[in-house]
Amino acid sequence: MTVPEVSIDPAAFHADPYPILAQIQETSPVTYVRQIDAYLITRRDDVAEWERKTHILSSDQPGGLMTVLMGQNMMRKDGAAHQAERRAIFPTISPKTVREHWATQFKTATHTVLRRIAPHGKCDLVADYAMPVSAEALKLITGLVDMPWQRMDAVSQAMIDGCANYADDPAVTTRCHTATAEIDHHITITKNPDPLSLLGVQHAAELSPEQISANIKLAISGGQNEPRDAIAGAAYAVLQHPETRSALGAGALDWSQIFEEYCRWMAPIGMSPRRVIQETAIHGLTLPKEARAFLMFGAANRDPRVFKDPATFNPWRDCRQAVTFGAGPHFCAGAAISRELIAKIALPMLFDHLPRLRLNGPTKFQGWAFRGPDCVDVTWA
Ligand code: HEM
Repeated sequence: MTVPEVSIDPAAFHADPYPILAQIQETSPVTYVRQIDAYLITRRDDVAEWERKTHILSSDQPGGLMTVLMGQNMMRKDGAAHQAERRAIFPTISPKTVREHWATQFKTATHTVLRRIAPHGKCDLVADYAMPVSAEALKLITGLVDMPWQRMDAVSQAMIDGCANYADDPAVTTRCHTATAEIDHHITITKNPDPLSLLGVQHAAELSPEQISANIKLAISGGQNEPRDAIAGAAYAVLQHPETRSALGAGALDWSQIFEEYCRWMAPIGMSPRRVIQETAIHGLTLPKEARAFLMFGAANRDPRVFKDPATFNPWRDCRQAVTFGAGPHFCAGAAISRELIAKIALPMLFDHLPRLRLNGPTKFQGWAFRGPDCVDVTWA
Protein backbone atom coordinates (compact mmCIF):
# COMPACT_ATOMS: atom_id res chain seq x y z
CA MET A 1 0.00 0.00 0.00
CA THR A 2 1.15 3.53 -0.69
CA VAL A 3 1.97 5.68 2.30
CA PRO A 4 -0.42 8.67 2.55
CA GLU A 5 1.22 12.00 1.76
CA VAL A 6 0.55 15.30 3.53
CA SER A 7 1.70 18.88 3.09
CA ILE A 8 2.52 21.03 6.12
CA ASP A 9 3.18 24.71 6.83
CA PRO A 10 6.83 24.62 8.03
CA ALA A 11 6.44 27.78 10.15
CA ALA A 12 3.35 26.41 11.93
CA PHE A 13 5.12 23.06 12.40
CA HIS A 14 8.12 24.80 13.97
CA ALA A 15 5.90 26.89 16.26
CA ASP A 16 3.80 23.91 17.45
CA PRO A 17 4.13 20.50 15.73
CA TYR A 18 1.72 18.70 18.05
CA PRO A 19 -1.68 19.48 16.44
CA ILE A 20 -0.30 18.39 13.02
CA LEU A 21 1.39 15.30 14.50
CA ALA A 22 -1.79 14.29 16.38
CA GLN A 23 -3.77 14.52 13.14
CA ILE A 24 -1.37 12.45 11.03
CA GLN A 25 -0.85 9.97 13.91
CA GLU A 26 -4.60 9.43 14.02
CA THR A 27 -4.92 9.03 10.23
CA SER A 28 -2.05 6.63 9.50
CA PRO A 29 0.86 4.85 11.29
CA VAL A 30 3.27 6.18 8.64
CA THR A 31 2.92 9.45 6.70
CA TYR A 32 5.12 10.98 4.01
CA VAL A 33 5.64 14.72 4.57
CA ARG A 34 6.59 16.49 1.37
CA GLN A 35 8.24 19.57 2.93
CA ILE A 36 10.74 17.51 4.94
CA ASP A 37 10.98 14.65 2.39
CA ALA A 38 10.63 11.95 5.03
CA TYR A 39 8.38 9.09 6.18
CA LEU A 40 7.20 9.85 9.70
CA ILE A 41 6.64 6.96 12.12
CA THR A 42 4.48 8.54 14.84
CA ARG A 43 2.85 5.84 17.02
CA ARG A 44 4.62 4.86 20.25
CA ASP A 45 4.68 1.08 19.83
CA ASP A 46 5.82 1.35 16.19
CA VAL A 47 8.66 3.71 17.16
CA ALA A 48 9.77 1.27 19.89
CA GLU A 49 9.53 -1.73 17.55
CA TRP A 50 11.20 -0.20 14.47
CA GLU A 51 14.03 1.57 16.28
CA ARG A 52 15.28 -1.92 17.11
CA LYS A 53 15.26 -3.06 13.46
CA THR A 54 18.64 -1.57 12.57
CA HIS A 55 18.99 -4.10 9.72
CA ILE A 56 16.13 -2.24 7.98
CA LEU A 57 16.22 1.28 9.48
CA SER A 58 19.91 2.19 9.68
CA SER A 59 21.63 4.96 11.62
CA ASP A 60 24.49 4.85 9.15
CA GLN A 61 23.89 7.82 6.82
CA PRO A 62 27.11 8.35 4.86
CA GLY A 63 25.90 11.53 3.12
CA GLY A 64 24.06 12.82 6.18
CA LEU A 65 24.87 16.32 7.47
CA MET A 66 25.98 15.05 10.91
CA THR A 67 28.52 12.60 9.45
CA VAL A 68 29.80 15.10 6.84
CA LEU A 69 30.21 17.96 9.35
CA MET A 70 31.17 16.16 12.57
CA GLY A 71 32.67 12.83 11.46
CA GLN A 72 31.04 9.41 11.81
CA ASN A 73 30.15 9.08 15.49
CA MET A 74 28.62 6.14 17.34
CA MET A 75 25.06 7.44 16.78
CA ARG A 76 25.64 7.08 13.03
CA LYS A 77 26.87 3.47 13.24
CA ASP A 78 25.04 0.17 13.68
CA GLY A 79 25.89 -3.28 14.97
CA ALA A 80 29.34 -4.28 16.27
CA ALA A 81 31.02 -0.97 15.34
CA HIS A 82 28.41 0.90 17.37
CA GLN A 83 28.53 -1.50 20.31
CA ALA A 84 32.34 -1.27 20.53
CA GLU A 85 32.20 2.50 20.99
CA ARG A 86 29.26 2.21 23.41
CA ARG A 87 31.35 -0.15 25.54
CA ALA A 88 34.30 2.24 25.43
CA ILE A 89 32.28 5.15 26.90
CA PHE A 90 30.35 3.09 29.46
CA PRO A 91 32.76 3.98 32.35
CA THR A 92 31.83 7.68 31.85
CA ILE A 93 28.06 7.29 31.57
CA SER A 94 27.29 4.40 33.95
CA PRO A 95 24.77 5.09 36.77
CA LYS A 96 27.53 4.19 39.27
CA THR A 97 29.98 6.75 37.86
CA VAL A 98 27.20 9.33 37.75
CA ARG A 99 26.34 8.75 41.43
CA GLU A 100 29.87 8.38 42.79
CA HIS A 101 31.95 10.64 40.53
CA TRP A 102 29.88 13.27 38.68
CA ALA A 103 27.02 14.10 41.11
CA THR A 104 29.12 16.06 43.64
CA GLN A 105 30.89 17.96 40.86
CA PHE A 106 27.55 18.82 39.21
CA LYS A 107 26.28 20.12 42.58
CA THR A 108 29.33 22.34 43.08
CA ALA A 109 29.06 23.79 39.57
CA THR A 110 25.29 24.36 39.94
CA HIS A 111 25.83 26.09 43.28
CA THR A 112 28.31 28.48 41.64
CA VAL A 113 25.70 29.39 38.99
CA LEU A 114 23.01 29.96 41.67
CA ARG A 115 25.34 32.18 43.70
CA ARG A 116 25.97 34.21 40.53
CA ILE A 117 22.30 34.85 39.67
CA ALA A 118 20.74 35.09 43.19
CA PRO A 119 21.69 38.76 43.85
CA HIS A 120 19.95 39.89 40.62
CA GLY A 121 16.40 39.09 41.82
CA LYS A 122 15.34 38.04 38.30
CA CYS A 123 16.70 36.25 35.21
CA ASP A 124 15.93 34.20 32.11
CA LEU A 125 16.16 30.59 33.29
CA VAL A 126 17.16 29.39 29.81
CA ALA A 127 20.19 31.67 29.27
CA ASP A 128 21.21 32.50 32.87
CA TYR A 129 20.66 29.19 34.68
CA ALA A 130 19.95 26.13 32.51
CA MET A 131 22.55 26.96 29.84
CA PRO A 132 25.53 27.37 32.22
CA VAL A 133 24.44 24.42 34.40
CA SER A 134 24.28 22.13 31.34
CA ALA A 135 27.52 23.48 29.85
CA GLU A 136 29.48 23.14 33.10
CA ALA A 137 28.32 19.52 33.39
CA LEU A 138 29.30 18.85 29.78
CA LYS A 139 32.81 20.27 30.37
CA LEU A 140 33.27 17.72 33.16
CA ILE A 141 31.77 14.82 31.19
CA THR A 142 33.79 15.46 28.02
CA GLY A 143 37.01 16.35 29.90
CA LEU A 144 37.29 19.72 28.13
CA VAL A 145 37.39 21.66 31.39
CA ASP A 146 39.35 24.63 29.96
CA MET A 147 36.60 25.56 27.50
CA PRO A 148 34.52 28.51 28.84
CA TRP A 149 30.88 27.43 29.36
CA GLN A 150 29.69 30.12 26.92
CA ARG A 151 31.92 28.53 24.21
CA MET A 152 30.62 25.04 25.07
CA ASP A 153 27.08 26.28 24.46
CA ALA A 154 28.06 28.18 21.32
CA VAL A 155 29.87 25.25 19.64
CA SER A 156 26.95 22.95 20.52
CA GLN A 157 24.46 25.33 18.90
CA ALA A 158 26.68 25.78 15.82
CA MET A 159 26.83 21.99 15.28
CA ILE A 160 23.07 21.54 15.80
CA ASP A 161 22.40 24.33 13.28
CA GLY A 162 24.84 22.67 10.90
CA CYS A 163 23.09 19.29 11.20
CA ALA A 164 19.70 20.90 10.46
CA ASN A 165 21.02 23.06 7.60
CA TYR A 166 18.93 21.43 4.86
CA ALA A 167 18.75 24.84 3.11
CA ASP A 168 22.54 24.59 2.72
CA ASP A 169 23.26 28.12 4.05
CA PRO A 170 27.10 28.60 3.66
CA ALA A 171 27.30 30.84 6.76
CA VAL A 172 25.79 28.06 8.89
CA THR A 173 28.25 25.53 7.44
CA THR A 174 31.23 27.84 8.10
CA ARG A 175 30.12 28.43 11.70
CA CYS A 176 29.85 24.67 12.20
CA HIS A 177 33.34 24.07 10.79
CA THR A 178 34.75 26.77 13.08
CA ALA A 179 33.03 25.12 16.05
CA THR A 180 34.36 21.63 15.27
CA ALA A 181 37.88 23.05 14.83
CA GLU A 182 37.59 24.74 18.23
CA ILE A 183 36.61 21.42 19.85
CA ASP A 184 39.50 19.62 18.15
CA HIS A 185 41.82 22.31 19.46
CA HIS A 186 40.63 21.70 23.03
CA ILE A 187 40.95 17.92 22.57
CA THR A 188 44.59 18.45 21.51
CA ILE A 189 45.54 20.83 24.35
CA THR A 190 43.84 18.75 27.09
CA LYS A 191 46.84 16.64 28.21
CA ASN A 192 45.63 14.96 31.44
CA PRO A 193 41.85 14.60 31.18
CA ASP A 194 39.81 13.12 34.04
CA PRO A 195 40.30 9.35 33.46
CA LEU A 196 36.50 8.91 33.74
CA SER A 197 35.70 11.64 31.20
CA LEU A 198 34.80 10.79 27.59
CA LEU A 199 38.26 11.91 26.51
CA GLY A 200 39.94 9.82 29.23
CA VAL A 201 38.00 6.58 28.65
CA GLN A 202 38.22 6.73 24.85
CA HIS A 203 41.99 7.19 25.06
CA ALA A 204 42.12 4.25 27.49
CA ALA A 205 40.10 2.14 25.03
CA GLU A 206 42.59 3.13 22.31
CA LEU A 207 39.98 4.50 19.97
CA SER A 208 41.38 6.39 16.95
CA PRO A 209 41.70 10.20 17.06
CA GLU A 210 38.86 10.37 14.50
CA GLN A 211 36.54 8.23 16.66
CA ILE A 212 37.41 10.21 19.82
CA SER A 213 36.83 13.57 18.12
CA ALA A 214 33.53 12.47 16.49
CA ASN A 215 32.10 11.10 19.76
CA ILE A 216 33.13 14.16 21.80
CA LYS A 217 31.39 16.36 19.19
CA LEU A 218 28.32 14.09 19.39
CA ALA A 219 28.16 14.41 23.19
CA ILE A 220 28.49 18.20 22.94
CA SER A 221 25.83 18.48 20.20
CA GLY A 222 23.46 16.06 21.98
CA GLY A 223 24.24 16.92 25.59
CA GLN A 224 23.78 20.71 25.83
CA ASN A 225 20.44 21.88 24.41
CA GLU A 226 18.42 18.93 25.67
CA PRO A 227 19.33 19.31 29.38
CA ARG A 228 19.09 23.09 29.01
CA ASP A 229 15.57 22.88 27.58
CA ALA A 230 14.50 20.25 30.12
CA ILE A 231 15.75 22.27 33.12
CA ALA A 232 14.14 25.56 32.04
CA GLY A 233 11.04 23.88 30.58
CA ALA A 234 10.33 21.72 33.64
CA ALA A 235 10.79 24.73 35.94
CA TYR A 236 8.30 26.62 33.76
CA ALA A 237 5.82 23.73 33.95
CA VAL A 238 5.98 23.68 37.78
CA LEU A 239 5.57 27.47 37.98
CA GLN A 240 2.60 27.17 35.60
CA HIS A 241 1.02 24.42 37.74
CA PRO A 242 1.01 25.64 41.40
CA GLU A 243 -0.63 22.37 42.56
CA THR A 244 2.52 20.52 41.56
CA ARG A 245 4.69 22.91 43.58
CA SER A 246 2.68 22.39 46.75
CA ALA A 247 2.71 18.62 46.18
CA LEU A 248 6.52 18.76 45.83
CA GLY A 249 6.69 20.76 49.07
CA ALA A 250 4.49 18.20 50.80
CA GLY A 251 6.55 15.28 49.48
CA ALA A 252 3.52 13.97 47.53
CA LEU A 253 5.45 14.34 44.28
CA ASP A 254 9.18 14.20 43.47
CA TRP A 255 11.36 15.93 40.91
CA SER A 256 11.91 12.72 38.93
CA GLN A 257 8.16 12.60 38.23
CA ILE A 258 8.32 16.25 37.12
CA PHE A 259 11.31 15.57 34.86
CA GLU A 260 9.94 12.41 33.24
CA GLU A 261 6.54 14.01 32.61
CA TYR A 262 8.03 17.22 31.23
CA CYS A 263 10.12 15.22 28.72
CA ARG A 264 7.06 13.14 27.76
CA TRP A 265 4.91 16.27 27.34
CA MET A 266 7.57 18.35 25.51
CA ALA A 267 10.20 15.91 24.22
CA PRO A 268 13.54 17.81 23.96
CA ILE A 269 14.45 15.55 21.00
CA GLY A 270 11.34 15.21 18.86
CA MET A 271 12.83 13.16 16.03
CA SER A 272 15.71 10.93 14.99
CA PRO A 273 16.47 10.07 11.34
CA ARG A 274 17.08 6.64 9.85
CA ARG A 275 17.98 5.42 6.34
CA VAL A 276 15.74 2.68 4.89
CA ILE A 277 18.34 0.15 3.71
CA GLN A 278 15.84 -2.27 2.18
CA GLU A 279 12.27 -1.67 0.92
CA THR A 280 9.96 -2.52 3.78
CA ALA A 281 6.33 -2.33 4.87
CA ILE A 282 5.03 -0.98 8.18
CA HIS A 283 1.41 -2.03 8.75
CA GLY A 284 1.32 -2.83 5.01
CA LEU A 285 2.55 0.66 4.04
CA THR A 286 5.62 0.56 1.79
CA LEU A 287 8.79 2.55 2.55
CA PRO A 288 11.14 2.57 -0.46
CA LYS A 289 14.83 1.68 -0.25
CA GLU A 290 17.15 4.64 0.58
CA ALA A 291 14.18 6.73 1.80
CA ARG A 292 14.47 8.83 4.98
CA ALA A 293 12.39 7.59 7.91
CA PHE A 294 11.94 9.78 10.98
CA LEU A 295 11.30 8.17 14.36
CA MET A 296 9.00 10.77 15.94
CA PHE A 297 9.72 10.57 19.68
CA GLY A 298 7.67 13.71 20.42
CA ALA A 299 4.54 12.34 18.72
CA ALA A 300 5.05 8.89 20.29
CA ASN A 301 5.18 10.49 23.75
CA ARG A 302 1.73 11.94 23.09
CA ASP A 303 0.18 8.79 21.59
CA PRO A 304 -3.41 8.62 22.96
CA ARG A 305 -3.23 4.83 22.61
CA VAL A 306 -0.71 4.88 25.48
CA PHE A 307 -1.15 8.20 27.32
CA LYS A 308 -4.57 9.48 28.47
CA ASP A 309 -5.14 13.19 27.76
CA PRO A 310 -1.61 13.38 26.30
CA ALA A 311 -1.50 17.17 25.72
CA THR A 312 -1.89 17.82 29.45
CA PHE A 313 1.11 18.18 31.79
CA ASN A 314 0.33 15.67 34.57
CA PRO A 315 3.31 14.53 36.68
CA TRP A 316 1.17 12.00 38.55
CA ARG A 317 0.87 9.86 35.40
CA ASP A 318 3.00 6.75 34.68
CA CYS A 319 5.67 7.74 32.17
CA ARG A 320 7.45 4.40 31.86
CA GLN A 321 6.17 3.97 28.27
CA ALA A 322 7.66 7.29 27.16
CA VAL A 323 10.45 7.09 24.53
CA THR A 324 12.11 10.37 25.57
CA PHE A 325 15.61 8.82 25.38
CA GLY A 326 14.84 6.52 22.43
CA ALA A 327 13.91 2.85 22.62
CA GLY A 328 16.62 0.77 20.96
CA PRO A 329 20.38 0.20 20.65
CA HIS A 330 20.91 3.97 20.39
CA PHE A 331 19.11 4.60 23.71
CA CYS A 332 20.54 7.89 25.02
CA ALA A 333 24.06 7.43 26.43
CA GLY A 334 23.43 10.48 28.65
CA ALA A 335 20.16 9.28 30.26
CA ALA A 336 21.63 8.55 33.71
CA ILE A 337 23.65 11.78 33.59
CA SER A 338 20.52 13.79 32.66
CA ARG A 339 18.31 12.21 35.31
CA GLU A 340 20.89 13.00 38.01
CA LEU A 341 21.83 16.49 36.77
CA ILE A 342 18.27 17.67 36.09
CA ALA A 343 15.91 15.81 38.49
CA LYS A 344 18.28 15.35 41.44
CA ILE A 345 20.35 18.57 41.24
CA ALA A 346 19.39 21.49 38.93
CA LEU A 347 15.61 21.59 39.62
CA PRO A 348 15.53 20.94 43.40
CA MET A 349 18.50 23.27 44.01
CA LEU A 350 16.82 26.08 42.02
CA PHE A 351 13.54 25.91 43.95
CA ASP A 352 15.27 25.38 47.33
CA HIS A 353 17.61 28.36 46.81
CA LEU A 354 14.94 30.69 45.36
CA PRO A 355 11.72 29.84 47.26
CA ARG A 356 9.94 32.99 45.98
CA LEU A 357 10.57 32.00 42.34
CA ARG A 358 7.69 32.96 40.03
CA LEU A 359 7.10 33.63 36.33
CA ASN A 360 7.83 37.15 35.13
CA GLY A 361 6.59 37.15 31.52
CA PRO A 362 5.35 34.94 28.68
CA THR A 363 7.21 31.86 27.40
CA LYS A 364 6.95 30.39 23.90
CA PHE A 365 8.04 26.87 23.04
CA GLN A 366 9.51 26.24 19.59
CA GLY A 367 10.94 23.55 17.32
CA TRP A 368 9.96 20.04 16.23
CA ALA A 369 13.27 18.13 15.80
CA PHE A 370 14.54 19.81 18.98
CA ARG A 371 11.89 21.52 21.18
CA GLY A 372 12.21 23.86 24.13
CA PRO A 373 11.31 27.26 25.60
CA ASP A 374 12.67 30.40 23.93
CA CYS A 375 13.06 32.04 27.34
CA VAL A 376 11.65 31.58 30.86
CA ASP A 377 11.66 34.97 32.56
CA VAL A 378 11.37 34.67 36.34
CA THR A 379 11.75 36.80 39.45
CA TRP A 380 12.28 36.00 43.11
CA ALA A 381 12.48 39.54 44.44
C1 HEM B 1 17.07 15.63 28.63
C2 HEM B 1 18.21 15.31 28.09
C3 HEM B 1 18.41 14.39 26.90
C4 HEM B 1 17.50 13.84 26.03
C5 HEM B 1 15.98 14.02 26.02
C6 HEM B 1 18.25 13.00 25.10
C7 HEM B 1 17.65 12.25 24.08
C8 HEM B 1 18.35 11.37 23.27
C9 HEM B 1 17.73 10.51 22.28
C10 HEM B 1 16.24 10.48 21.93
C11 HEM B 1 18.71 9.74 21.71
C12 HEM B 1 18.53 8.62 20.67
C13 HEM B 1 18.71 9.07 19.34
C14 HEM B 1 18.48 7.95 18.33
O1 HEM B 1 17.90 6.95 18.62
O2 HEM B 1 18.94 8.19 17.22
C15 HEM B 1 19.96 10.14 22.33
C16 HEM B 1 21.21 9.60 21.99
C17 HEM B 1 22.41 10.02 22.57
N1 HEM B 1 22.55 10.95 23.59
FE1 HEM B 1 21.07 11.93 24.55
N2 HEM B 1 19.59 13.07 25.40
C18 HEM B 1 19.74 13.90 26.50
C19 HEM B 1 20.92 14.23 27.14
C20 HEM B 1 22.17 13.75 26.77
C21 HEM B 1 23.42 14.10 27.43
C22 HEM B 1 23.55 15.03 28.64
C23 HEM B 1 24.43 13.46 26.75
C24 HEM B 1 25.94 13.47 26.97
C25 HEM B 1 26.57 13.64 27.98
C26 HEM B 1 23.81 12.69 25.69
C27 HEM B 1 24.50 11.90 24.78
C28 HEM B 1 23.92 11.07 23.85
C29 HEM B 1 24.68 10.16 22.96
C30 HEM B 1 26.19 10.00 22.94
C31 HEM B 1 23.72 9.52 22.17
C32 HEM B 1 24.00 8.46 21.09
C33 HEM B 1 23.93 7.09 21.72
C34 HEM B 1 24.17 5.97 20.72
O3 HEM B 1 24.07 6.21 19.53
O4 HEM B 1 24.48 4.87 21.18
N3 HEM B 1 22.44 12.89 25.73
N4 HEM B 1 19.73 11.14 23.27
